[in-house]
Amino acid sequence: MSSLPRHIAIIMDGNGRWAEHHGLPRTEGHKAGTRSARKIVTQCRKLGIPHVTFYTFSKENWSRPREEVSFLFEMLQSYLKSEMDSLLERDIRLHVLGDWDELPFALRQILRHVCSKSSHCKSMVVNLALNYSGREEIVRACRKLVSQGIPAERITEQLLADNLDTAGQPDPDLIIRTSGEQRLSNFLLYQAAYSELVFTPVMWPDFDEDCLQAALDEYSRRSRRFGGLEQPAA
Ligand code: IPE
Ligand code: IPE
Ligand code: MG
Repeated sequence: MSSLPRHIAIIMDGNGRWAEHHGLPRTEGHKAGTRSARKIVTQCRKLGIPHVTFYTFSKENWSRPREEVSFLFEMLQSYLKSEMDSLLERDIRLHVLGDWDELPFALRQILRHVCSKSSHCKSMVVNLALNYSGREEIVRACRKLVSQGIPAERITEQLLADNLDTAGQPDPDLIIRTSGEQRLSNFLLYQAAYSELVFTPVMWPDFDEDCLQAALDEYSRRSRRFGGLEQPAA
């Protein structure tokens, strides 16, 4: 198999525990997490990985204290403002997975702006899973098909995939989760059917280029069979 994934999806977990470990408020963990995200985008661009998805905020994350939620949205807003030119310079397209409607107006505005400004960029797609729930994404896709009056017999796996927020992008070959938790937490449930999963105990703010390389090395050692038999070595 090709040793480099075409699509890496990352569950960036452990910001709070990292902060606690350093005697800092959780918000500092989130700030430090942003720096990791910047590093990983840069490294993936360098390596030529064309699709990278970051699990940024789940639907379930609304159950956190209101101050933490507001902090996360405000931080993302200023991150997008400061990153936009650099994304465009590097020919990186920004795309959002999830339900925009419940996001604060100012965040939606900047997201819309960066997504439209970068819509022509071809070298890499960065997806932000934001107010995202894998189950809800599938329900939204079903609703779309029903509202278009598509007859039941025309509904196929491909048609459903074409109506998900990741339409037109390959399924993630590799899903990485930091912080030692070993679950998907409602992330890319449809698209993860044959993803390779790599779990690392490293907290997201400590995840760097070397950690990414370790995950890529692990991925390259995996034998992906997709239900078939192992391919003999070339
Ligand atoms: C991930 O870190 C960031 C988000 C979910 C927004 P956490 O905030 O979940 O950190 P822990 O899991 O509490 O350490
Ligand atoms: C998953 O992390 C969501 C994001 C990374 C945005 P959580 O910290 O919310 O997941 P659980 O609650 O531990 O499953
Ligand atoms: Mg967490």
